Amino acid sequence: MSVQTPARTALITGGSRGIGLAVAGELLDRGMSVCITGRKQPGLDAAVDELAEGDRVLAVAGSTADPEHRARTVALAVERFGSLDILVNNAGINPTSGP
Ligand SMILES: NC(=O)c1ccc[n+]([C@@H]2O[C@H](COP(=O)([O-])OP(=O)(O)OC[C@H]3O[C@@H](n4cnc5c(N)ncnc54)[C@H](OP(=O)(O)O)[C@@H]3O)[C@@H](O)[C@H]2O)c1
Repeated sequence: MSVQTPARTALITGGSRGIGLAVAGELLDRGMSVCITGRKQPGLDAAVDELAEGDRVLAVAGSTADPEHRARTVALAVERFGSLDILVNNAGINPTSGP
């Protein structure tokens, strides 16, 4: 019988509002630590305040389109939390929206 290690840390791209922020809150409620991203620092700061989980939340500003940001975010999450177990690839756009 295999023993599975519970997931401990999640990276949620686009976690400063909307669906990503809701997912971050849910995973924190389940005892996980989360790293959230978004392009704008003020939105991330507001999200960290709203989540109110102190050391279990890491926010990293930048765009998922930027390879350097992606690499730095993963490195910071592993450095802070010791592992990175789940990716919620949430940041995105709807190219068909608009008139
Ligand atoms: N809402 C819906 O009904 C719906 C339906 C189907 C699919 N989706 C998809 O679900 C995802 C979330 O939707 P949502 O409604 O929660 O969106 P939202 O409220 O507009 O939130 C988008 C989040 O992504 C961040 N973001 C946007 N572009 C980014 C980039 N290039 N790099 C990093 N972060 C970025 C935003 O922060 P910044 O602006 O600071 O970057 C924000 O935190 C999207 O992929 C969307 O296409 C949504």
